[in-house]
Amino acid sequence: MTCNRRTVLAAALVAAFTLNTSAFAAKPLVIGFSQVGAESEWRTANTVSIKDAAKKEGITLKFADAQQKQENQVKAIRSFIAQRVDVIAFSPVVESGWDTVLREAKAAKIPVILTDRAVNVSDPSLYVTFIGSDFVEEGRRAARWLVERAKKTPDTVLNIVELQGTVGSAPALDRKKGFEEIIAGNPKLKVIRSQTGDFTRAKGKEVMEAFLKAEGKKINVLYAHNDDMAIGAIQAIEEAGLKPGKDIIVISIDGVKGAFEAMIAGKLNVTVECSPLLGPQLMQIARDVVANKPVPKRFTTQEGVFPAEVAAKEFPNRKY
Ligand code: AHR
Repeated sequence: MTCNRRTVLAAALVAAFTLNTSAFAAKPLVIGFSQVGAESEWRTANTVSIKDAAKKEGITLKFADAQQKQENQVKAIRSFIAQRVDVIAFSPVVESGWDTVLREAKAAKIPVILTDRAVNVSDPSLYVTFIGSDFVEEGRRAARWLVERAKKTPDTVLNIVELQGTVGSAPALDRKKGFEEIIAGNPKLKVIRSQTGDFTRAKGKEVMEAFLKAEGKKINVLYAHNDDMAIGAIQAIEEAGLKPGKDIIVISIDGVKGAFEAMIAGKLNVTVECSPLLGPQLMQIARDVVANKPVPKRFTTQEGVFPAEVAAKEFPNRKY
């Protein structure tokens, strides 16, 4: 081979190698994401945040809506495993029953990231990390606000009705636990009814109607595990001829725009913030996990409490 031919061959090899590596570098990360459903204003904002962040980051997102059913999430996770995605992320509809499918993901060497809701598994190595809120603390914050409010009527016992979230879900279990922890032993605060409203407006309204029918004017406080159920319940209270926010104190969790509008209208007293804007953080952490960077086992979102008094001022700053 002449020197010239050798140079041409070497140049061709270098070009082929460069092309190959840049093609490899450009391969987009693929995340399979199983969403709970579209049950609330919060959930819609969460879905938008995840889809927008993936698009912005050039990440391929395979998105599956489970319509609030665990079996749909299990099917979606199995399909992500079969498709050999780089990362599986999901917001589990309920806390328990995940061991088998997560073991399958682990056996396939696909890292799992939990967003928003936690799971209860025997082996914590079945997921890499969790990104989301401290739901127990949210329940405590709701109760602490009520304890302060109750000081204005020291001689009155306040009867509370509670609208729980989806049965068996982390936010329903934890928000109940945190609230109870703070009111425990307080003779002025008494939960007289507690039932699930499945985190939806329709169910929140329906269950509040039943509460009103059973307890009528005995109800002083409504504690709803999310804003959507509170908004549904507000309608039921008005239809019963009572004034929400006045005749019945209304406390809820999330901090969506709908809650701020209700507070500005004087129908909701306080909302405890729970941020759905988890998309950008999820994309960054997914990249770190794939790059084998060590990540903490939990990322807790920082959040506040918004009473009606600050609603009008805060409303223009709300992003969801
Ligand atoms: O898991 C977060 C909860 O789920 C939100 O509080 C609620 O609105 C949603 O449906």
